[in-house]
Amino acid sequence: MARVLTGIQSSGRPHLGNILGAILPAIEFSKDERNESFYFIADLHSLTTLKDGATREEYVRAIAATWLAFGFDAESNVFWRQSRVPAHTELAWYLNCFTPYPMLANAHSFKDKSEQLEDVNAGLFTYPVLMSADILLYGANWVPVGKDQKQHLEITRDIASSFNRQVGEEILVLPEPKIDERIMTIPGIDGRKMSKSYHNYIDIFLPENELKKSIRKIVSDSTPLEEPKDPDKDITFQLYSLIADAPQVTSMRERYETGGYGYGHAKQELFELILEKYKKPREVFGYYMRETDALESILRKGEEKARAIAEEVLSKVRSKLGYR
Ligand code: TRP
Repeated sequence: MARVLTGIQSSGRPHLGNILGAILPAIEFSKDERNESFYFIADLHSLTTLKDGATREEYVRAIAATWLAFGFDAESNVFWRQSRVPAHTELAWYLNCFTPYPMLANAHSFKDKSEQLEDVNAGLFTYPVLMSADILLYGANWVPVGKDQKQHLEITRDIASSFNRQVGEEILVLPEPKIDERIMTIPGIDGRKMSKSYHNYIDIFLPENELKKSIRKIVSDSTPLEEPKDPDKDITFQLYSLIADAPQVTSMRERYETGGYGYGHAKQELFELILEKYKKPREVFGYYMRETDALESILRKGEEKARAIAEEVLSKVRSKLGYR
């Protein structure tokens, strides 16, 4: 059995880009019986940039509800909130003391963030150490992440081998990143990568009228309705193709190329497709956002499982370091 682990930052409500690019592939992966999946909500990492507690709670609920809405099986896998398993922060402290300062100072993500953000706090700096603790605590073999996280995985491997070397025993498992190059970038409504920070995302859980408004805002060129259009240059078509099945895509392509079909028509079809295709997830999401106790009880069960597993590595680390 391979242990697959990934963390999802609670820095916003998941949007279509997160769902197509990360959540659905991870759920597919978790269905493989040869894998044991450990998926958690990285709510401690979100504190580096988000300070408001009520907002964090809402985002954590929305993330958990999204995974469940798309059919993630929290019973047969492990699904939890990072902050509820104190072993993450405990191991992070130990690892801090095995992490060379220049390695963190040279991390791309720290450099980028410290240029962009006003609040350059020590949590941002040690972010990769907490992430290493998340991974090493569970002896994860595979870590599915986006390309931007590749360096963090290298840091994790470096910290783990330095730790093992200094304590003279292979206690920590060196993880491999799993970066799916096939996953394409999902375009946002302005054509740049769909991202919370660009405010160009589609939230598929919005009430119908708001969802429709956000789809109407998708940028298109000014080709008149009668004229043929190039589907491959159009964002609405690209988004439609990511969700629709093959015959639907072929038929929309033909309508673009024939002419007499406007971008407004395509947007309307995209809107209807989202409602139809995500009918069930929209219902389940709404259910868990309303029934907070039901959601809470699923997360609590996951936290118990996670705590028990984390204890195995943590107790070995403690006893090696003289903290028995
Ligand atoms: N840093 C990751 C991101 O921003 C989130 C994360 C935190 C994570 N801990 C992790 C991912 C452990 C994988 C494994 O996407």
